Amino acid sequence: RHVAVLMGGWSSEREVSLSSGNGVADALESLGHRVTRIDMGRDVAARLAEAAPDVVFNALHGCPGEDGSVQGLLDLMGLKYTHSGLATSVIAIDKQLTKNELVPHGIRMPAGLMVDSQSLHAADPLLRPYVLKPVNEGSSVGVAIVTADGNYGSPIGHDVEGPWKHFDRLLAEPFIKGRELTVAVLGDRPLAVTELKPQAGFYDYDSKYTDGLTVHVCPAQIPAEIASSALAMAVKAHRVLGCKGTSRSDFRWDEEQGEAGLYLLEVNTQPGMTPLSLVPEQAKHLGMSYAQLVQRIVEEALP
Ligand code: DAL
Ligand code: MG
Repeated sequence: RHVAVLMGGWSSEREVSLSSGNGVADALESLGHRVTRIDMGRDVAARLAEAAPDVVFNALHGCPGEDGSVQGLLDLMGLKYTHSGLATSVIAIDKQLTKNELVPHGIRMPAGLMVDSQSLHAADPLLRPYVLKPVNEGSSVGVAIVTADGNYGSPIGHDVEGPWKHFDRLLAEPFIKGRELTVAVLGDRPLAVTELKPQAGFYDYDSKYTDGLTVHVCPAQIPAEIASSALAMAVKAHRVLGCKGTSRSDFRWDEEQGEAGLYLLEVNTQPGMTPLSLVPEQAKHLGMSYAQLVQRIVEEALP
């Protein structure tokens, strides 16, 4: 097959996407596919038309790439592509739209409040501790945990003019204390539950992409009923949103509350494929190599 791997682009997760995309492209070449690597620029349509691949492997993260824009272009061009389609991507990239979609289906998520960065000058939008995040970024870009006595990330009050001014749509959510869990879904099956234990602070950008800063425990050492709830919630979220290929659902679990303390935070429709990424790690736990995972994602995109 001829596979075009779309990567890079101009989102805040450009570097993550280049790592995902080059990993995927290397794996596809090792499997004998013909590969065209496309670092996405404004000329992406022309480059795709020239390449005329059998299928596009979408290795983009963030906006554009995970938000429906590129999916819409690929639909118009009549090209097959991996991962979720236009409508699913538009909803899943937006953490508030995702809640609107999933909470009525009985999936527990923290109640969110949309705030504009101007109003943050005046007052806290929620009782502390709370989390403030751009509604449509990935990899924890722009995420702050606002605590009673100090903040991780961008401090409110002092630094509203700083990183926050790049994000016009912010989401405030009550901070769920406890543990960080994630579940990948491949096809229509959940893979495993991984617990992320950052060695300092929270599971932020540096903790995600610097080797050694976060311990990954797969399978997570948690009670069986919590693990099965997380697996079931991830599959349900994947189905309700209409995700294709693979997705990864991120959770917080407040163990003092038992099963009622398990909250879905978000669904990632373009989960990372870097050397430290979680979907490949869960696949490996089940005996599937990185190359086999990539092959499977490509097959999911073909009729
Ligand atoms: N946003 C990153 C790539 C992830 O979800 O893995
Ligand atoms: Mg995300």
